[in-house]
Amino acid sequence: MSAKGLEGIVAAQSSISSIIDGVLTYAGINIDELAENASFEEVVYLLWHGRLPKADELAQLKKDLAENATIPEDVIALLKASPEGNHPMAVLRTAISALALYDPEAQDMSREANLRKAIRLQAKVGTVVAAYHRIREGKEVVAPCPDFGLAQNFLYMLNGEEPKQIAIDALDTALVLHADHELNASTFAARVTVATLSDIYSGITSAIGALKGPLHGGANEAVMAMLEEIKDPANVEEYINEKLAQKVKIMGFGHRVYKDGDPRAKHLRKMSEKLTSITGQPQWYEMSVKIDDMVTSKKGLKPNVDFYSASVYHSLGIPRDLFTPIFAISRMSGWTAHILEQYENNRLIRPRAEYVGPVNAHYVPLEER
Ligand SMILES: CC(C)(COP(=O)(O)OP(=O)(O)OC[C@H]1O[C@@H](n2cnc3c(N)ncnc32)[C@H](O)[C@@H]1OP(=O)(O)O)[C@@H](O)C(=O)NCCC(=O)NCCS
Repeated sequence: MSAKGLEGIVAAQSSISSIIDGVLTYAGINIDELAENASFEEVVYLLWHGRLPKADELAQLKKDLAENATIPEDVIALLKASPEGNHPMAVLRTAISALALYDPEAQDMSREANLRKAIRLQAKVGTVVAAYHRIREGKEVVAPCPDFGLAQNFLYMLNGEEPKQIAIDALDTALVLHADHELNASTFAARVTVATLSDIYSGITSAIGALKGPLHGGANEAVMAMLEEIKDPANVEEYINEKLAQKVKIMGFGHRVYKDGDPRAKHLRKMSEKLTSITGQPQWYEMSVKIDDMVTSKKGLKPNVDFYSASVYHSLGIPRDLFTPIFAISRMSGWTAHILEQYENNRLIRPRAEYVGPVNAHYVPLEER
């Protein structure tokens, strides 16, 4: 018997993050503690090294990330040459794959080189997303500022002005919450790819492709589309009842592993409440809460990480189709950590399929078919 969707299959051992009894930890530290206290850079170090950085190690990581944040002119030219109307995730997938062509260490499989490439990928992914957005808006690309952290730099490169502290803090917390999540679909895709001993860029390109889909990272964009379609809290009841009657999935709800709620959602819910009130657009939060109450009571499905992150990102002034690329900016840390771990103790990942096709079939010559 096959396990459809590999449900319940333990396909790897990992010491990067765990989901045990509905509790998510990164290297054993509860996500709640990290969301309250850690910076995204501390989490990046934690995922790569299995422990929190000391002050000098954190300073060095920040310096390395800042020094590697620029992207080659050729990649900017590639972004400029991208046909209009493409989804930023498709552009990101292409641009990250292209970055490999400009990395002289792309094929060096030593741990040291792979760690350096992980730094480059983490440093550059936000630059690519922001640069593409500026280009499609017909604006000048903004170079990264060497004094800024990842969250601050992303908002700065996106908008061309220094972001407010509250926006930096909110994005930083969102990045912490999305950084890793055990053997989710995109991380699995990355591990499958590099388990053939292919390079880290190939693994990340696979991961971005997997994250793009609406059942995975693409859900946060779909949630915002739903909120915009509903428009007003007064319309929630009719809209949700109709969708449930049509057996249409409500984006941002349900999870393969959590059946009793996603521990990340409560942090994003709080952030959504605060940010939507500051921006004077509380309707996004109110609608979200109404949808949450209805889907929870009628379907027994709880919101996942993507549900409240939609109104959080919207409140930060981020366009809807950049929500999933922001997920990718954060998850780059987890993907690269998993790739490094896979290389450390590699075996080809090659499951079997249960064959359900015809048997004893025969070749029929073309003229007799
Ligand atoms: C996350 C998800 C892909 C998990 O999928 P899964 O473990 O394969 O679960 P299934 O899709 O088999 O769902 C099991 C049942 O719950 C229902 N269900 C699951 N998620 C639902 C949702 N968001 N809205 C309505 N019904 C849902 C399914 O229709 C199915 O019902 P059925 O048994 O009557 O056919 C799924 O819950 C989903 O599609 N959610 C919406 C997309 C999303 O938010 N993704 C981000 C995940 S972090």
